[in-house]
Amino acid sequence: MKVADYEYLSTFLMKSSGLALGPGKEYLLESRLVPLAQSLGLADFEGLVNELRRGADRRLSESVTEAMTTNETLFFRDKTPFEDLKKVLLPELMAVRQAEKTLRIWCAAASTGQEPYSLIMLLRESFPSLSNWKIDFTATDISQQMLDRAQDGLYSQFEVQRGLPVTHLVKYFDQDPKGWRVKAEIRNAVRFRKLNLLDNFALLGAFDLIMCRNVLIYFDQETKKSILERMGKLLKPDGFLMLGAAETVLGVTDDFVRYRSCPSAVYASARRPV
Ligand SMILES: C[S@@+](CC[C@H](N)C(=O)[O-])C[C@H]1O[C@@H](n2cnc3c(N)ncnc32)[C@H](O)[C@@H]1O
Repeated sequence: MKVADYEYLSTFLMKSSGLALGPGKEYLLESRLVPLAQSLGLADFEGLVNELRRGADRRLSESVTEAMTTNETLFFRDKTPFEDLKKVLLPELMAVRQAEKTLRIWCAAASTGQEPYSLIMLLRESFPSLSNWKIDFTATDISQQMLDRAQDGLYSQFEVQRGLPVTHLVKYFDQDPKGWRVKAEIRNAVRFRKLNLLDNFALLGAFDLIMCRNVLIYFDQETKKSILERMGKLLKPDGFLMLGAAETVLGVTDDFVRYRSCPSAVYASARRPV
């Protein structure tokens, strides 16, 4: 791979999605972009980079960005965060929102939907009294392809075997010739929309719970700081931010503090009333 092509793609990806490629990722670029070039009828990797440079096709920029995102996810990923939600965070939020009976939740890198659907299933299973609350649940991702899959709610046998209890499969999914589809009542409980975390998201409004798991790891410090601080402005003072197991605010921003009642990566706003 030409050094100039590598540098061009690194800069392009940083600007388009925040992905900090770093050095030595030629294999990653080729393994994701050669199949894309082939599917678009372009001669080879170089042909794709040249086409991207010409900048004539906005859809090509989006396809390259999407091809380079890592969409790995599973139901009830890491288990502990969902235990924390069940035992600590949701009971606490329900106590402070008892009067208004409204919760606003944002899942900020939803990928193919397993994370938001896991949370909806948890709400149904463990907090039946929420059935007469208004749960405003937004799930976003930069990838329209992933969001389409999320919204469709169709999962393969392999995907439902990863993290999903059989009791949930039976209760919340319908069997489909192609796999298992999340029941409409669960799908309709989440509003999916395309959102790049590099863009301004202030218009989403204030949230009680923000889940931003396993996406900050791909960004550099400056990008993490910008995203976290803008999220901090949207998090209600008594709300919670959940990050992925390998992610932290430490050394990035002082706008959050670790919420010590939870073993998983849960943060409270530094503005939290004591
Ligand atoms: C590894 S998945 C994490 C999915 C889920 N949160 C989990 O923890 O299982 C990361 C997701 O972040 C999305 N993503 C990457 N860059 C993004 C950006 N700049 N804005 C919004 N989403 C982004 C990717 O499309 C991908 O679906």
